[in-house]
Amino acid sequence: MSKRYTITAALPYTNGPIHIGHLAGVYVPADIYARYKRLTGNDVAFICGSDEHGVPITIKAKKEGVTPQDIVDKYHAIIKKSFEDFGITFDNYSRTSAKIHHDTASEFFKTLYDKHEFVEEVTEQLYDEEANQFLADRFVTGTCPKCSNEEAYGDQCENCGSSLNATDLINPKSAITGNVPTLKETKHWFLPLNKHENFLREWILKGHKKDWKPNVYGQVKSWIDDGLRPRAVTRDLDWGIPVPVPGGEGKVLYVWFDAPIGYISATKEWAASEGKDWEPYWKDENTKLVHFIGKDNIVFHCIIFPAMLKAEGSYILPDNVPANEFLNLEGNKLSTSKNWAVWLPDYLEDFPNQQDVLRYALTANAPESKDNDFTWKDFQARNNNELVAIFGNFINRVVVLTNKYYDGIVPEASEFSEVDNETLAAVKAYPSVIESSIERYRFREASQELMNLARLGNKYLADEEPWKLIKTDEARTKTIMFVALQIASALATLSEPFLPFTSNKLKSILNVTSSAVEMSWSDILTKDILIPSGHQIGKGELLFSKIEDKTIQEQLDKLEASKKANEVANKEVEPQKDIITFDDFTKLDMRVGTILEAEKMPKTKKLLILKVDTGIDTRTIVSGIAESFTPEEVIGKQVTVLVNLAPRALRGVESEGMILMTETSEGKLVFVNPDTTVNSGLSIS
Ligand code: 2FM
Ligand code: ZN
Repeated sequence: MSKRYTITAALPYTNGPIHIGHLAGVYVPADIYARYKRLTGNDVAFICGSDEHGVPITIKAKKEGVTPQDIVDKYHAIIKKSFEDFGITFDNYSRTSAKIHHDTASEFFKTLYDKHEFVEEVTEQLYDEEANQFLADRFVTGTCPKCSNEEAYGDQCENCGSSLNATDLINPKSAITGNVPTLKETKHWFLPLNKHENFLREWILKGHKKDWKPNVYGQVKSWIDDGLRPRAVTRDLDWGIPVPVPGGEGKVLYVWFDAPIGYISATKEWAASEGKDWEPYWKDENTKLVHFIGKDNIVFHCIIFPAMLKAEGSYILPDNVPANEFLNLEGNKLSTSKNWAVWLPDYLEDFPNQQDVLRYALTANAPESKDNDFTWKDFQARNNNELVAIFGNFINRVVVLTNKYYDGIVPEASEFSEVDNETLAAVKAYPSVIESSIERYRFREASQELMNLARLGNKYLADEEPWKLIKTDEARTKTIMFVALQIASALATLSEPFLPFTSNKLKSILNVTSSAVEMSWSDILTKDILIPSGHQIGKGELLFSKIEDKTIQEQLDKLEASKKANEVANKEVEPQKDIITFDDFTKLDMRVGTILEAEKMPKTKKLLILKVDTGIDTRTIVSGIAESFTPEEVIGKQVTVLVNLAPRALRGVESEGMILMTETSEGKLVFVNPDTTVNSGLSIS
C-alpha cells in the first residue's frame, strides 16, 4: 500500500568536502531506501542540506583568514555537487543559512519559549580570557568524565558518544589559545530533558522501538537509564541564528538545536517549489519519518530532537533512526585533519564514471552493525569478482548472444523446461527478498541478494549452454535466451536503488525506457513476461571494467604519502640541546664538499657510499640517504660536510665525515647545501 515517507539524511557540516565514510554511513543507504520507496509507488520527500552553523566552521574560517560565510559557500557547492555526482536523489538539498531556515528555527524556538518549555538560567560557563570568548562545543577539549578520552569536545565525546556540557570536561583547554579556561556567568536557555524522560522512556523503551537497530536502541536505553539533564540550546557566539527572545542579544541558537529543524525548513522549501503542502510530511500520523545518520548523531536524533518535537506539540516523531557505525580506511579511523580519507571529488577524478563501483563496494561492506574497514583490495575484489565477473558478465553474454543470433530481437520461447520454470519463479521472488532486507535496513544483505540474482542468471546460462545448443536445437536456444532476457530485465529494475547509473545504462541497452516496456518493481512480482518476444534491444556496452593492481597501488601510495606527511607534520619539534660555548662551535669543521662518486652499499636499503671532494682531500663517506636519492641523482651535488668527525666503520666501510641533511614535510631527505656553486673546501660558519 502506498504511504507517505519523509526520509532525512544527516546535514553535513560545510567545513570540508565529504568522504567515503559519509557516503557509506549515511547517504548511500538513505538513497537506496528513498529510491526503493519511490520505485514501489510511495510518496517520498528525501531531504538534506548543508549544516552551516557551529564551531568547526568558525574555527576553519579563522584558520584560513576568511569569513564563515566564505567557508560555507565554498563547501556547500562542493558537497552539493558530490551528491549529484554520486546519484544521491535528494528531493531538496537546502542549507541552514537559507532565510526559510532562519525563520523556521526562530519560530520553533519562540513557540517553545512561549510555551515555557525552556528553563532560563544564569550559570558559570567556561571562558577564554585571552580570546575574550565563552568556550562551548568544539572551542573546548578535555577529558571525558565517562570514558576518560582526553580529546572529548565541549558538547560530545566522540569516543563513547556521550553528550556533554562543556563544564563536565575534566582538565578543559581552550581550542583557540590552548589556555585553561576560567568561569564566567552568562544567561542561557535550557531544554529540560529531564522533564521529557518519562515520555522518552515510554516512547522508545516501552513503545515499539525494539525493532530499532540494536546499536541505536542500546545507546538510547543506556542514556535514558543514566538519567537526562537540562541542556543549553543557546550559545554566546556570533555565528548562527540569533536568539529571537528578549535577553538573547549577542547569542545564537546551539547548532544542534537549529540543524535538525533544517529537515523541516528544507521540506517547506521543497514543498513550496513543487506547489505542495509541507505539513502532512511532518504532521500527519500516517507519515513515516526516518532519519539516516552516523552513530555520533544518535543522541541528537533519538533524544534531543524528539524532545523538541514533542515540546512543540504538533509534529510526528521518527519511526526509525537506522544509524550506522563508522567506516575505517585501511585499518585506521577516517580523519579529515590527518587527510586519512578518500574524498569524493578525488575518487571521481581517479575513477571517472565509476560511481556505482564505490556505491556497491561501500554497501556490500557497510558498517551496519559494527565499525568496518574499507580497503582498496576489497574495493578491487568487489569490482572484479562481483560487478565484472558476475553482473557484467551475465548481461554481456545475454546482449551479445541476442544480437548475434537474433539481430537483437527477443526470440519466441517454446516450451519451458523444469529448470526454466524454476528459474522464472526464482526471479519473481527477488523483489520480496530484497524488499525484506531493505525494510529491516539491511542494505548489505539486500545488495548481496541483488548479486545473487545476477549469479542465478550466470549459472542458468552456464548450465544451459545456448552457445552449444545453437548448432543443434534452435527452438531450445530461443527459449533459453528468452528466459535469460527476463532475468536481465529484472536486474535492470531491481538494481536501480543500488547501482543507479548501471541500471540506467542497462535499461537503455535493453531498450526498456519507453513507457510501453517500462517496468516497475511490482511488475517483476506479478508479470510473467518482463520483456516480450519481438522487442528490439540495443547493442552491447560494457557495464563494468576490470580494475588492475596498478590502479589500486596508486591509491595505496596516495594514502602512504598522507601518512608520511602526517608523521612529519606531527613530529614534535625536538627540544633544544644543552647550550654550547663559542669555542665548542669552532671545533666543528664544516666545509662545502662535492660528491664525485656514489654507489649503493650492498645488501642495505638506506646506505650510499659516497666519494666526496672536501677541498682538503677526496674521502669516503657513508650516508643513510638511499631511500631519498639514487646514486645517479647525487653525483655532482654540492653538500655541507662535517669533516672533522671521528671516522667510524659502517658495514665494514670506513666513513670519514658526515653530510648535513634535513627532512621535508613529505618525509624526503634534502641536502643542506650552498645555493650557488662554490669551490669545494670552503668553510661554513
Ligand atoms: O555530524 C554532523 O555532521 C552534523 N552536521 C549532522 C547534523 S544532522 C541534523 F540534525 F541536522
Ligand atoms: Zn567519552
